[in-house]
Amino acid sequence: MAVKLDKDKAAERLQILRDEINYHAHRYYVLDNPVISDGEYDKLFQELLELEEAYPELVTEDSPSRRVGGEPLAGFESVAHRHPMLSLENAFDEQDLLDFEERLQRFLKTDQPLSYVTEPKLDGLAVELVYENGVFVLGSTRGDGQTGENITRNLKTIPSIPLRLQKTGKTMPARLEVRGEAFLSMEGFRRLNEQRAANNEPLFANPRNAAAGSLRQLDSRITAQRPLDFYVYGVSSPEDMPCDNQWQLLRYLGDLGFKTNPLSVECGSIKAVVRRFGELQNLRHELAYDIDGMVVKVSSFALQQRLGNKARSPRWAMACKFPASQATTILEGVEFNVGRTGAVTPVALLQPVNIGGVNVSRATLHNEDEMKRKDLRIGDTVLVQRAGDVIPEVVKPVVEMRTGKETAIRMPQHCPVCNTKLVRAAKEAVTRCPNDYCPAQRLRGLIHFTGKAGLDF
Ligand code: IVH
Repeated sequence: MAVKLDKDKAAERLQILRDEINYHAHRYYVLDNPVISDGEYDKLFQELLELEEAYPELVTEDSPSRRVGGEPLAGFESVAHRHPMLSLENAFDEQDLLDFEERLQRFLKTDQPLSYVTEPKLDGLAVELVYENGVFVLGSTRGDGQTGENITRNLKTIPSIPLRLQKTGKTMPARLEVRGEAFLSMEGFRRLNEQRAANNEPLFANPRNAAAGSLRQLDSRITAQRPLDFYVYGVSSPEDMPCDNQWQLLRYLGDLGFKTNPLSVECGSIKAVVRRFGELQNLRHELAYDIDGMVVKVSSFALQQRLGNKARSPRWAMACKFPASQATTILEGVEFNVGRTGAVTPVALLQPVNIGGVNVSRATLHNEDEMKRKDLRIGDTVLVQRAGDVIPEVVKPVVEMRTGKETAIRMPQHCPVCNTKLVRAAKEAVTRCPNDYCPAQRLRGLIHFTGKAGLDF
């Protein structure tokens, strides 16, 4: 039917279809409030695809058909950010937040309380989206803050990223650079890993790695199958916006068609910010996605401008980090270490994971009985815990993530270093290498002798 239209009519119809499909995609993916059925939406999409197939020269950059991905790239091009993508300084507790306000007031030479916006800090991938005359033309990763990678085609597959901005009645800058976080929901992550297990592919350790891996795909058709999502949280140059503060900006970005986080709140005082930090910590485990903290921003753009930036971070914002002590990752293998006294300790080799700012790739499994009690298997997704300076430990396997492909861990029969047959005394939990001349024991002994517990020179 569609193919019978002549080119002029086809161009007209295509324009209508693009607008309608973009409108309905926004209702569905951004507002979570569709006004037509999936079937009706699919029919519109099918008509668009058929018309574009008949007239490929009429395909535009903002066509929803671009969301399905295209031929694989050979590599990603670099993109220099016109305005650097900064990072944030961390706060960990109430005192850090009170100190933050004190610094602001000192800098601004005022004792007036300040107004803030707090936003959940999503744990995904920071990206920049550039719109020219309302059309999405360039999307990039943060990279080192100055230069990132061009991942436009992958970002186009994320249904909540508008390909064309909506009219708002306010002026729209000819070039708009927005920043936000691309991420996977917990549910999306679980589904993705399920599929990967079924296809015998390695699992992603956590939603962040899964989001980053999905956006670094050279084949955007694969990215298109990953359930990615996007929340916008700012722009590169607030001074060009028809808004005076961050709170208005979030509303404006919402009006343009972006998804903004509904848990963002305006706080009239730093005390209110502290209260909100506590609330978010309690809400954290009920959310559909991972957050690792809260971002607090001085709302007023005039004040942001006066406060300016330090080398790597703005003075007007902070990342308030939750006390992260646990994370999940994958148990890739087990190594058996021989200590000074001959005790053989199983050590978990983990896919590296960041726990409270520290990269963890090894954790103790204590001994054979502990390992058995926890029923750990190689390939398991495991919960890992870190408390202060204590050696990280594996708490338990996440049994729900099992695929049936995990393999049992066996205690070795012989010393992994000198090959002497290991012994385990009747009532002891420890397995030992009985060879006093075992090189591992000698080395450990020497390290002990010269260390804090020994001579301590
Ligand atoms: S504002 C100049 N707001 O946190 C301000 N960042 O170190 C820069 N992030 O990887 C960032 N949620 O992607 C801001 N609501 C939010 C955020 C947020 C997550 C990430 C950001 C970057 C890191 C900042």
